[in-house]
Amino acid sequence: MTPTGPDSPALPLLVSTPADLRAATATLLDAAPSRAADDPPSLGLVPTMGGLHAGHAALAGAARAANDVVVASVFVNPLQFGDQADLERYPRTLDEDLRLLGARGVDLVFAPAVEDMYPGGEPLVRVSAGPMGEVFEGASRPGHFDGMLTVVAKLLHLAQPATRARYRAYFGEKDAQQLALIRRMVLDLNLPVHIEGVPIVRDADGLALSSRNRFLAGDERAAALVLSRTLAALRDRAARGEPLDLAAARTQIAAEEGVDLDYLDVVDPASFAPAGGPGPERPAALAVVAARVGAVRLIDNILLPVPR
Ligand code: PAF
Repeated sequence: MTPTGPDSPALPLLVSTPADLRAATATLLDAAPSRAADDPPSLGLVPTMGGLHAGHAALAGAARAANDVVVASVFVNPLQFGDQADLERYPRTLDEDLRLLGARGVDLVFAPAVEDMYPGGEPLVRVSAGPMGEVFEGASRPGHFDGMLTVVAKLLHLAQPATRARYRAYFGEKDAQQLALIRRMVLDLNLPVHIEGVPIVRDADGLALSSRNRFLAGDERAAALVLSRTLAALRDRAARGEPLDLAAARTQIAAEEGVDLDYLDVVDPASFAPAGGPGPERPAALAVVAARVGAVRLIDNILLPVPR
C-alpha cells in the first residue's frame, strides 16, 4: 500500500492481471489476524465499473465493516454495453476511484485491461440470464444481463480465496434486477460466495446516485426527481393500504418535460415476476422504474411495505 501524504488515506494496492490478483489476495489473507480454527478470515469483493460515487463508497464501507480483506474491481465491461457510444462515454476515473476506495479502507483494487479479462478475445462461452434477463432492463437492453453475469462470474472466480476463507460479494440494491440475477446465478451454479445487497444511496433531494447522473444538465436533473418522488408516493400509498394506481403514476412521470418513461411496475424482488402489490401472501414487492431523461437512462426502485 502506498501512502500519498501524511494526512491522506493509504491508496489501495493496484493490480491488473488475474495472477497478481490471486497472489495479492493470498498474501493479504495470510496476514489477516489469526483466530479460532472455526473462524476463518474473510474476503469481501466489491465489483464496480469505476466512475465511483457515494453509493460505491457505501458498498466498500459495508465490505470493510464485515471482512478482514476487501478487494474492489474497476472494469468497464464491454460485454454488457449494447451501444458502442454508451461504452465509450462511460466515465473512466481510476485515480479518483482509487482515492475513494482508499478512504473506505479497501486493501486491493483489480483494474484489468480488456485483454486481461478476455484473453481469448470476445468470449464464445457466456452465462445466460435466461427469461429473467429478458424483461424490464433486459427488454430495453438486449444481451446486457448475459454480459453482466459473464463478467461477474469471472470476477467472483478470479477473486475467490485460495485458502479456506469466508467469501462475500457486495452489490447495490439500485440495480435490483442485476442483484436478483446475480443471486440466482450463485444459487443455480452453486458458486461458493455469499451475495450482500447494499441499500440505495440518494442525494438529499431523493435522486438515486448513479455514475450517469454526471451527464444530466441542471434542468434534466430537476426533471429526473419525478422518478424518486413517484416511487416515494407509491411506498406511502402501500403503507396506508391504498390502491397503488400505477396508471396514474405512469401518467405523472410521462407528463414531466424531457422524461421518456420506459417502465413503471411492481415486481417480486427475487424473480422480477409482476406482482400486484404487497400483501400478507407477498411480504416483499418492489416498485421499479426506468426512464430516459434527455440522453441519460436512469433506473430506480423502492420496496413497498405491507400495510399495517
Ligand atoms: O453494477 C455494475 O457496476 C456492473 O454491472 C458490475 C456488477 C460491476 C459488472 O460489470
